[in-house]
Amino acid sequence: MGQPSNPRIQHGPLKDLEEWDDFVKSRYPEDASPAAAAGNGKKRQEFRNFTDTTPPHVREFYRQNHSKQTRDFVRSKKTEYLSKSRAKMGIWEAMEFLNTLVDESDPDTELSQIEHLLQTSEAARRDGRPDWFILTGLIHDLGKILCLWGEPQWAVVGDTFPVGCAWSPKIVFHEFFSLSPDSRVPEYQTRLGVYQEHGGLANVDMSWGHDEYFYHVVKDYLPEEALYMIRYHSFYPAHREGEYEYLMDDHDREMFQRVREFNPYDLYSKADHAPNVVELRPYYEDLISKYFPSSLQW
Ligand SMILES: [Fe+2]
Ligand SMILES: [Fe+2]
Repeated sequence: MGQPSNPRIQHGPLKDLEEWDDFVKSRYPEDASPAAAAGNGKKRQEFRNFTDTTPPHVREFYRQNHSKQTRDFVRSKKTEYLSKSRAKMGIWEAMEFLNTLVDESDPDTELSQIEHLLQTSEAARRDGRPDWFILTGLIHDLGKILCLWGEPQWAVVGDTFPVGCAWSPKIVFHEFFSLSPDSRVPEYQTRLGVYQEHGGLANVDMSWGHDEYFYHVVKDYLPEEALYMIRYHSFYPAHREGEYEYLMDDHDREMFQRVREFNPYDLYSKADHAPNVVELRPYYEDLISKYFPSSLQW
């Protein structure tokens, strides 16, 4: 199915894809969430500057992401991937495929990709969330297999944002957008750009990555709330910063409550101990078969 000769290689400046997740977590620490901040009197900073405090290779990742995620790029990736003719795989099979992506620097101390997925789903299960929510926790990052098909890190992970309209100043490392060819397209530099006021996110092209790709793989099989969680879980400018409301319709706004509910499981469920994959597998195989056919188009 078109794997590169060394699937362990991750194309880009990050040590591994989790390094991006870790950076997001450092920007939104658990005890600084709006609810926690209200409780302990801590004030959440509105505009923060990460230029001096971020490791150079993480900044380099954002430089690549912001300068290359143009509207044309997004549209060409959609043409390339959304025919879903790359592979036929079941969900667990895709988890095992993603598992071949290991951290090169320290493979023995890092959790495997499957263990990361299970930590998210198990946290939702402990909280008594509905089964589709637990399943969403398990699978939401499977789009990261884009990396195994040779996509560079900047086209797989990163905070997502709409393309074809002005970039919110609250997008982290906003300054790198000046390097994007889209910054020289006046039509894309207005508040609405190519879109309609409250025209709905379904009509908006988001920057390309694991969220958008995986949404298209599973969109026929899951409840709509789950699909929103999958498609917009990296859309931090909207679900954490409250931006781009003017592109959303009423239904998007309602569904974003669920995206916000999901985010803590994504960000804060990573414990040090590894879940027992062998023990948990039968429960999750059952859950997967409740919603998915044995094979999907990728
Ligand atoms: Fe993700
Ligand atoms: Fe995630």
